[in-house]
Amino acid sequence: MKEKAPKQPENQLSIEEMATFCKRKGFVYQNSEIYGSLAGFFDFGPLGVELKNNIKQHWWKTFVQSRDDIVGIDGSIITHPAVWKASGHVDSFTDILVECNKCKARHRADHLIEDKLGINTTGMSLDDLAKILKESPIKCPKCGNAALGEPKAFNLMFTTNIGPIETENSRAYLRPETAQVIFTDFRLVQENARLKLPFGIAQIGKAYRNEISPRDFLFRMREFEQMEIEYFTHPDSVNECPYLDEVLNHEIQILSEDMQKHNKEHVKMSIREALQKKIIKTTWHAYWLAKSHKWFTSLGAKLDNFRIRQHIPTELSHYALETWDLEYKFPFGWKELQGVANRTDYDLQQHIKHSGKDLSLFDEATKRKIIPHVVCEPSQGVERAFLVFMFDAYTYNPERDNIVLKLHPALAPFKVAVFPLVSNKDELVKKAKEVHDNLKPYFASFYDDSGSIGRRYARQDESGTPYCITIDFDTLNNDTVTIRDRDSTEQHRIKIKELRHKLEQLLSKETHFSDLKD
Ligand code: GLY
Repeated sequence: MKEKAPKQPENQLSIEEMATFCKRKGFVYQNSEIYGSLAGFFDFGPLGVELKNNIKQHWWKTFVQSRDDIVGIDGSIITHPAVWKASGHVDSFTDILVECNKCKARHRADHLIEDKLGINTTGMSLDDLAKILKESPIKCPKCGNAALGEPKAFNLMFTTNIGPIETENSRAYLRPETAQVIFTDFRLVQENARLKLPFGIAQIGKAYRNEISPRDFLFRMREFEQMEIEYFTHPDSVNECPYLDEVLNHEIQILSEDMQKHNKEHVKMSIREALQKKIIKTTWHAYWLAKSHKWFTSLGAKLDNFRIRQHIPTELSHYALETWDLEYKFPFGWKELQGVANRTDYDLQQHIKHSGKDLSLFDEATKRKIIPHVVCEPSQGVERAFLVFMFDAYTYNPERDNIVLKLHPALAPFKVAVFPLVSNKDELVKKAKEVHDNLKPYFASFYDDSGSIGRRYARQDESGTPYCITIDFDTLNNDTVTIRDRDSTEQHRIKIKELRHKLEQLLSKETHFSDLKD
């Protein structure tokens, strides 16, 4: 698919155009492309790995390192298979598939119905989907045959074998969520970190789902990364969030279960109003949804491209009492970015039952054992966040006739690029390399001396590099360089010896670019 820049800066690219742009610039590639690729698996290229790492580091800094109530772990991808029996994933972690009787292609029933019949299948059961398919038969999208088989449940966990002999007992699973490792390590972490309720345990790591039909580029993948927090509260105070004041005035678009029932659109309101009107029922949900929204927008994502949507009862996961999704307006519709589920004490109780181990905490106040509740589990895919930041940063500038990727400096793969004005003057090249080498220990810096200076600026604009430094003939006389701002193309001259300090101020947004003017 050829990437075509939108005519108007505000027009959003299609997901296919974004995939093309990501490949061309070295953000993301299809996995094993030379062998024809593997659906649902992607590789991150030189720019993509930097952006992805920056997203994860910023999230970790915000939600773990900057807080006293949350600690992190990094658990194993393969865990004891009993974990997945206890968690309910072996029995319930399924999607509904239909198989073509002729070509044997397998399709996800709800997606097929949504794509072909335009029916919203949110929360529909196997029976609901089977009834629709019976009443409105759909042809196989692959071969056009009209005979699709009976829909059936398909477990999404990837299986593998542990050890040299493959038996029923050697079967294990690649984790479909990072959450369970947090539950199985819960007591150890609580003791080691001397945590007192309420507290959270966070994890960033890979998860695997054998999606029936992976699609929409990075949106629905088979291997992906999650950033999750399990937030534990005392069972007697599941609605007492001590941090609520931080978010009461925050405004967000809200689509409640009731609004969905009555086919209403989302409504923008403050968290205070949503709680007062009992649209959001728990203070913890209100707090975590607002915090997540604020995290995205603090990193340059557009406020109104987000809304929160309450799950309708038939849509809830097997472990959830209540769930709200933070959704983003993707080119293919409003979709989940982050699920915030109230998992109650479901998981800890299940692991107590299946392992026979005591996972309770002793409550000093009441002198009794309690099982904490996970009243909120903010859980999101790193790659979906990656897409959000890419979509909201991507702009086409008609005057410059080029793409400007307005990534927040904290996320930009390179913070600065250094060029000699021309590449055929040894003194300029030497000085530019010296400036670049001196910046490298402090900033992700990129050196480029190929092509015209205009092309080099344009390449950095597309890569999202906030600042470009050019070494010209004046530099050789007075040790000053030009610094150029990606978004405005404004340029100022500054002394080389001030470069590091000024860049620090610009990147942390302590100084505005126009303030550099003498
Ligand atoms: N832990 C929640 C999820 O993976 O969706």
